[in-house]
Amino acid sequence: MKIFIDSSEVKEIKKWDAQGVVDGVTTNPSIMLKDGAYDMEESTRRVCALMGERPVSIEVTTNDHAEMIRQGRQFASWGANVVVKIPVVNEFGESSLGAIHTLNKEGIRVNATAILAFNQAMLAAKAGATFVSIFAGRIADEGGDAVAVIRNVRHWLDEWGCRAEIIVGSMRGAVDIQNAALAGSHIVTVPPQFLPKMIDHKYTRETVRQFNRDAEKALAHFAEIRVNGNGAAKHDTPVAEPVLARRK
Ligand code: E4P
Repeated sequence: MKIFIDSSEVKEIKKWDAQGVVDGVTTNPSIMLKDGAYDMEESTRRVCALMGERPVSIEVTTNDHAEMIRQGRQFASWGANVVVKIPVVNEFGESSLGAIHTLNKEGIRVNATAILAFNQAMLAAKAGATFVSIFAGRIADEGGDAVAVIRNVRHWLDEWGCRAEIIVGSMRGAVDIQNAALAGSHIVTVPPQFLPKMIDHKYTRETVRQFNRDAEKALAHFAEIRVNGNGAAKHDTPVAEPVLARRK
């Protein structure tokens, strides 16, 4: 499974990329506004350069389907790894499948976004979307079962040998990431603020603290034995030596 960063903040992307967990980036106009990425082209080019060949999704900013296609072509010229995000319908409920289909035919990868139901994902995949973005948090906001939607879409894609990959976004907490991963999502896109919460655990800290304290004690004992030379019989196997060697 891949992990994408749901952000346009270069500092955060770099930070988590250095930890080896970034397979791509997703953004949307709200994320860009929040992150102060007002110049879409400049921001996209920077993130694309950082990601190399890894996909970077940026979203069209219009209700007009002809304009979506025009923007999609333009965005694609900003980087070979650009993926054009197209909402499955515009804000009037008009289908964007034609725009998805047209860009796909031109070899431009499309991330069909704002998916809240199985049927939307199925149609977007049929139309040629490379990625189908299921919004887990927004499904749950409406009382829906995001895990069931993810599981069903994955089952359908596999059953029919469809190449589209599921991205689950709209995360509200660390548990949503775990749920999406276990429900069969190919990719989970994670806002960077959740990553420290995913890796940290208070009992892991406590465990490491215990090991560090005991290592200190072992070190002190070993130093004492060395100085006094009176522990040789008790410690004739050099148990603490490797520990000491590593700590020097
Ligand atoms: C990612 O591709 C989505 O645009 C994003 O996760 C949506 O998140 P939201 O529902 O919190 O706006």
